[in-house]
Amino acid sequence: MAKAVIVYATFNGYTRKMAEAIGEGLMDAGIEVKSIIASKAKADDLDDADVVILGCPTYGRNLLYGMRRFLLEMEKADVKGKIGAAFGSYEWSGESVSKMDDKMRYRFSMDMVEPLRIIGAHPTGLKDSNEFGKKIADRIKIGGI
Ligand SMILES: Cc1cc2nc3c(=O)[nH]c(=O)nc-3n(C[C@H](O)[C@H](O)[C@H](O)COP(=O)(O)O)c2cc1C
Repeated sequence: MAKAVIVYATFNGYTRKMAEAIGEGLMDAGIEVKSIIASKAKADDLDDADVVILGCPTYGRNLLYGMRRFLLEMEKADVKGKIGAAFGSYEWSGESVSKMDDKMRYRFSMDMVEPLRIIGAHPTGLKDSNEFGKKIADRIKIGGI
């Protein structure tokens, strides 16, 4: 069974809800899911992952500290060529999602799904997150994992 690891940071909890909805979309499609809070995640948590999904909201036009730390920690992981995806909630600028997506795409050479940005607590945000999980699962199936 293919395995997805979701590493996320949150301050007020909405990005955790997004992570849960994405995880449900993946599990409904038969993918094993492990979710870890960014401040506690380690590089070796990604060892047996077929897919790595990072989530973080934007605060002060930046990532939360836990995700900044994890993006450095990820330098020790072997993720080149793995499927990756970035997501996050925001209200007006939303830089965090492209910061994660850029690093995964260009520094780690991951095979990136187009990212998901949701305006904080938007009424369709969790449904869209669930669909995002299904979309990632489809990419895994096309890749034959
Ligand atoms: C102090 C503070 C700073 C914020 N800075 C930004 C920002 O620079 N850009 C932006 O798009 N949203 C900003 N937001 C909005 C949050 O990203 C948004 O509420 C998000 O949904 C919070 O996610 P969370 O519940 O996972 O912590 C800010 C919110 C607060 C309270």
